[in-house]
Amino acid sequence: MRAKIIGTGSCLPPKIVTNDDLAKTVETSDEWIRARTGIQERRVSDEATATSDLAIVAAEKALAKAKMPAGELDLIIVGTTSPDTLFPSVACIVQDKLQAHKAAAFDVSAACSGFNFALTVAASFIETGTYKNILVIGADTLTKYLDWTDRGTCILFGDGAGAVVLTRSNDDSGILASWLKAEGSLGRYLVMPGGGSRDPEEKHGRFIKMDGKEVFKFAVRVLEESVGEVLKLAQLELKDIDLLIPHQANSRIVDHVTKKIGLPKEKVYVNLQKYGNTSAASIPIALDEALADGKIKKGDLIVLSGFGAGLTAGANVIKWGV
Ligand code: UT7
Repeated sequence: MRAKIIGTGSCLPPKIVTNDDLAKTVETSDEWIRARTGIQERRVSDEATATSDLAIVAAEKALAKAKMPAGELDLIIVGTTSPDTLFPSVACIVQDKLQAHKAAAFDVSAACSGFNFALTVAASFIETGTYKNILVIGADTLTKYLDWTDRGTCILFGDGAGAVVLTRSNDDSGILASWLKAEGSLGRYLVMPGGGSRDPEEKHGRFIKMDGKEVFKFAVRVLEESVGEVLKLAQLELKDIDLLIPHQANSRIVDHVTKKIGLPKEKVYVNLQKYGNTSAASIPIALDEALADGKIKKGDLIVLSGFGAGLTAGANVIKWGV
């Protein structure tokens, strides 16, 4: 039994912050940010907006496209590392707001790989017959955890949410294979030190701390590895892929890897110029936009590949079925 995506949705906060806006407060330039990351602008949520607010809108759109009432959901999984509160989980808040009374709900913490991890868990529940209808969301508001004086991080991130509705496939379409990885020994390169049980009073700050060069090296290594490994699991080859949707972190990471493995540019979906790195939301937002742009048709083979804090990485191969 396979799991199949039957609806997608996304939500971005309306406020746009351009590179020029950032250059007014920190020593950087539009030219530097574009050349080193490909990012032109990002969305930033206001004070009143938390991760669940974006997640709910994305979820409602995905459910509407799937023509599935929330009451039919068996499970809600949210990939996030910026929950509204440590508990309840974002998934429980979404369950309540959607009135998905039947659904169990929990969050998955794998940072920017969160959507791949959540999708993989959801697919397994469907494949084993435990659940039939699952809502998977990737949502983050990492701009709330940025040190706006640190030009090494504040230029990279944006806020957003993306959602997909999964159900049992009745044909050969659906999630063909999934691959997940963690390298906890490299965790120190991308850290949110404060706010957890190690530092509940946030003495070490509640800001993202990153060694950009080390994360970059990891990202290029695992993006290539994840595509290779997940295709092997699906018994497919690179030439079979119609579209790669990589985590939208940095166009240099994407360009470097796709050139190295020999995947033509037109088979790679990139929208990071508009939104920056939206963490767990980046892949489901890109998937929703790729569909709206007509870049995916029935029968296409798509690879979703993410990497992020942990350090973690994950990939899924999907035969598109709707
Ligand atoms: O989901 C995973 C999330 N994380 C990532 O994807 C991060 C991966 N890493 C990166 O994307 C890149 O490492 C960055 C974009 C963060 C940095 O780019 P880089 O090419 O690795 O730059 P760098 O850190 O080697 O810095 C080069 C120079 C330095 O100046 P000096 O020492 O050569 O004089 C930096 O101080 O650029 C300087 N610099 C900047 N200049 C203008 C660093 N950040 C900026 C900036 N504007 N924003």
